[in-house]
Amino acid sequence: MEIIHFSAECYPVAKVGGLGDVVGALPKYQNKLGHVAKVVMPAYDTKFLHQNEFEVVYDGWVRLGYNNLPVRIFREKTNKLGFDLFLVHIAGLLDREKVYGYADDTERFIAYQIASLDWIAQWEHKPDVMHCHDHHTGLIPFMVGNSHIYRHLNHIPTFLTIHNAQYQGQFGWDKLHYLPAYDLRNSSKLDWGNSINPLASAIKCAWRVTTVSPSYLDEISYKANGLENLLAQERGKSFGILNGIDNEVWNPQKDQMLNKAFTNRTVESGKKANKDALCDVFNLDKTKPLYTFIGRLVGEKGADLLPDIFWNALQQSDGEINILVLGSGDPDVEDRLNEITHYHAGNYNAYIGYNEALSHQIYAGADFLLMPSRVEPCGLNQMYALRYGTIPIVRRIGGLKDTVTDIGDGGFGICHDQSNIWDVNHAIGRAYELYLDQKRVKEIRKFIMTIDHSWDRAAQQYIDLYQM
Ligand code: ADP
Ligand code: GLC
Repeated sequence: MEIIHFSAECYPVAKVGGLGDVVGALPKYQNKLGHVAKVVMPAYDTKFLHQNEFEVVYDGWVRLGYNNLPVRIFREKTNKLGFDLFLVHIAGLLDREKVYGYADDTERFIAYQIASLDWIAQWEHKPDVMHCHDHHTGLIPFMVGNSHIYRHLNHIPTFLTIHNAQYQGQFGWDKLHYLPAYDLRNSSKLDWGNSINPLASAIKCAWRVTTVSPSYLDEISYKANGLENLLAQERGKSFGILNGIDNEVWNPQKDQMLNKAFTNRTVESGKKANKDALCDVFNLDKTKPLYTFIGRLVGEKGADLLPDIFWNALQQSDGEINILVLGSGDPDVEDRLNEITHYHAGNYNAYIGYNEALSHQIYAGADFLLMPSRVEPCGLNQMYALRYGTIPIVRRIGGLKDTVTDIGDGGFGICHDQSNIWDVNHAIGRAYELYLDQKRVKEIRKFIMTIDHSWDRAAQQYIDLYQM
């Protein structure tokens, strides 16, 4: 089958969070199964664009409202990512340093979607599947199905994967003129709550909808930032497919970013070397357990709770634990996390910012990884932690519930029910108790590194769904 993935992120081209990891891996694994999966994404002004070679495959114009803008589509020449990568270049609109966060994001992503479809509509052959990821690509199913401009594409099945229903990309009807002409009788397919809502539109128009874990599919029929009724209504065409992880990128045995590579047989010495290095850099106590948090500092991740959780844990444990944070997001949370360093130097530190290599080093060197998420559609961090022998401490929600079982239930992690300070502090205490039983910790580490969360399974599940 030929599958086109549309996405705003794709690792290593541009990554903000897990969406990038997924779109950088799933197509590669679909190709390994003998299919032809490609990625079409915006050309941002990132390192990847400057450090790699491209050829121009399309030179044209995109109509955005009353303007015509020049478009070029580049193909990465070497296929080194394991799939064909196409970058949609629109000067002045898409070629900026950041992926999101601009006042004209609506126009940017509409232009990218139209330009991508204009190009594909010209192909002599047509792909078998068009797979859209999140709201930035959510207007594609509508455009393909309802605009006569794309009538040659309208027989192609469209799929939507919801990575996060919280973000929907809605905008006012005053921006309708940015969309290509369509059959006006179908306006309701764009609308949700008197706005044009790309995520809602994709849920309505895509042939099938998937979420990135089975539990998240259940949860969003009850709570999905206003889309719960729609999702409950479309449940019949919706499926939960748990994400995988890219075992080639996240492989502690070959990971160049680590201080010392290791396997599950050498996990104890490997972890120690990586932990010692982290403790040297961040002024932490090598002899004490190391708890960490990696992620976006936003409400969904429970990040606003972290400062109080850490104050409590550090005070109560009286120097018996270490905490290291890697993240960025809400400036107030960033400040509060930084402030703790002044009071608990030697046992606490925070790196505020984004640092891919450091994230690998922390997964490898930590004893425990905290994820007190309020919402977690899948979560990749806990799967990376497992692969690197780090015990996850997670809230039972979404993909965390689907991937981590509590030690009390014969499992290998620490689970708690609520995203609040008391539950998390209790979980930190349970983890400390576990840490004192080093024999058990060693057994768990050895075991969790062998859990198979590779993409092979999920890549096939998507193929099965396309063919249903
Ligand atoms: P989300 O996509 O909701 O942020 P995921 O768990 O799916 O959460 O994926 C997060 C990804 O982003 C992981 O690869 C994680 O290691 C990475 N990440 C998050 N914050 C940072 C950071 N500050 N520095 C480096 N990597 C980060
Ligand atoms: C989103 C979700 C996260 C998920 C990721 C990849 O960013 O918040 O839980 O793992 O997408 O699907």
